[in-house]
Amino acid sequence: MTEPTIVLEAKGITKQFPGVLANDNVNFDLRKGEIHALLGENGAGKSTLMNLLYGLHNPDKGEIDVNGKTAVIHSPNDSIALGIGMVHQHFMLIPVFTVAENVMLGDESVKNGSLDRVAVAARITEISKQYGLDVDPNALVGPLPVGIQQRVEIVKTLYRNAEIVILDEPTAVLTPQEAEDLFRIMRDLTARGVSIIFITHKLKEVLAVADRITVMRAGRVINTVKPSETDSAQLANMMVGRQVILTVDKKDHEAADEVLKVEGITVRDQRDLETVHNVSFSVRGGEVLGIAGVQGNGQTELSEALTGLRRPTGGKVTIAGKDLTGKPPRIITEAGLGHIPEDRQRHGLVLSYSVADNMALCDYYHAPFSSRGVIQPKALDENSRKLISAFDVRTPSPFVNAGKLSGGNQQKVIVARELSRDVKLVIANQPTRGLDVGSIEYIHSEIIKMRDRGVAVLLISAELDEIMALSDRIAVMYRGQIVAVVDAKQTTREQLGLWMAGAHVETA
Ligand SMILES: Nc1ncnc2c1ncn2[C@@H]1O[C@H](COP(=O)(O)OP(=O)(O)OP(=O)(O)O)[C@@H](O)[C@H]1O
Ligand SMILES: [Mg+2]
Repeated sequence: MTEPTIVLEAKGITKQFPGVLANDNVNFDLRKGEIHALLGENGAGKSTLMNLLYGLHNPDKGEIDVNGKTAVIHSPNDSIALGIGMVHQHFMLIPVFTVAENVMLGDESVKNGSLDRVAVAARITEISKQYGLDVDPNALVGPLPVGIQQRVEIVKTLYRNAEIVILDEPTAVLTPQEAEDLFRIMRDLTARGVSIIFITHKLKEVLAVADRITVMRAGRVINTVKPSETDSAQLANMMVGRQVILTVDKKDHEAADEVLKVEGITVRDQRDLETVHNVSFSVRGGEVLGIAGVQGNGQTELSEALTGLRRPTGGKVTIAGKDLTGKPPRIITEAGLGHIPEDRQRHGLVLSYSVADNMALCDYYHAPFSSRGVIQPKALDENSRKLISAFDVRTPSPFVNAGKLSGGNQQKVIVARELSRDVKLVIANQPTRGLDVGSIEYIHSEIIKMRDRGVAVLLISAELDEIMALSDRIAVMYRGQIVAVVDAKQTTREQLGLWMAGAHVETA
């Protein structure tokens, strides 16, 4: 057997941030044409290692070899020149530009802003055809579905001739279908000799697509294994250092009065298309209503309309008997809503504020955080320390800006805040997106605790497993309508899947 060719090798990489040893003597290698998955709990140091390979940070210690030679990587330009491309955890595209403009952005070959647009577009079309990416160079990026925006990021790396592609949690925001498409694209890429580093929290995906799996914990590499030698439980254990219960313990619970009542609501999206048509349902105290559906079937606009981020064009929304139709977020919050928004960086956090301030974002003007109009730093501090410990938020201190936390820890700050407030209703949109298995276990148990305390929970999730595990009733959304509402105990994944795909419903 011939030795595999190593295209990239990190040797003894160490990176210290204020208060965190993010990478601690990390050794990692990537073989030509392989998919090497990188697993690890939130804050383990995965993105940091990738940012070092991509030249966004410099290591304190250690060496990076590319194609057998010591590489000098001080900036993304250096790594691009070495054939490394990266698709980030949070996309970096400019929505008001076209695909071609985004691809060209920052390209060294563009001089004085002049370039041959036709040639660039032709090249994008060619790459797109070669890998079955189906990307239109002249389309505006903003309105494109997330799955396509991600392909634009991939095209961007290939346009710059990347032979090593880093994908940082690419599937977190994809529908199951889009994820399948991405896996096919990844296999096409590796078949042509491209090597891929693939970060994800989804153990099933790792086992299905990776050639090798490296697990990190607390800045260190724990082990590198082959999928055939391991399973979900073992991977989870390696990641978090303890046994993780992958099922939710939920007892029957008596639902109380109606808390959220939605009557014939109609919503238009930013393109002024009606994406929610005449939807009605209600959620009672002490129950979890799950909304299942393939992303893009109106769930985003529905939750925006219910939480005040978007004004409905028709219908009525009542919370605990109070008409709140079209009211701004603060009024709805005051009426007893806890909200975990879909877009954590835009609606959930102020990245330039501290973790402590973010944890009191909805209540800072009330006691105990304010007294006679004066902010009480001690109360903010105590609250954040309590939540940081309960929700296991990995941060050096409560005073660090939220923007410095790892992706999953940013999500935990929002969830901790919203699930700890004294509310009547929680609307949780993709509450565990980007979270590691240990954190998901904890947050699921917190959601069930709230339900058991009598809070009404509306859970919107693209993860069917999550919907099935937490819901008492399940509503299926398809093309802007609720096409079925069922008792969670009396349905199956298969049945839900059919409704989600638009199969005809006999009794809605
Ligand atoms: N620019 C930065 N400044 C300060 N600290 C940082 C910075 N970037 C990362 N960190 C810290 O380094 C640690 C590792 O973060 P990293 O983003 O690498 O984690 P991760 O494994 O990608 O986690 P996740 O799964 O949540 O994305 C975290 O404690 C984080 O707070
Ligand atoms: Mg990360």
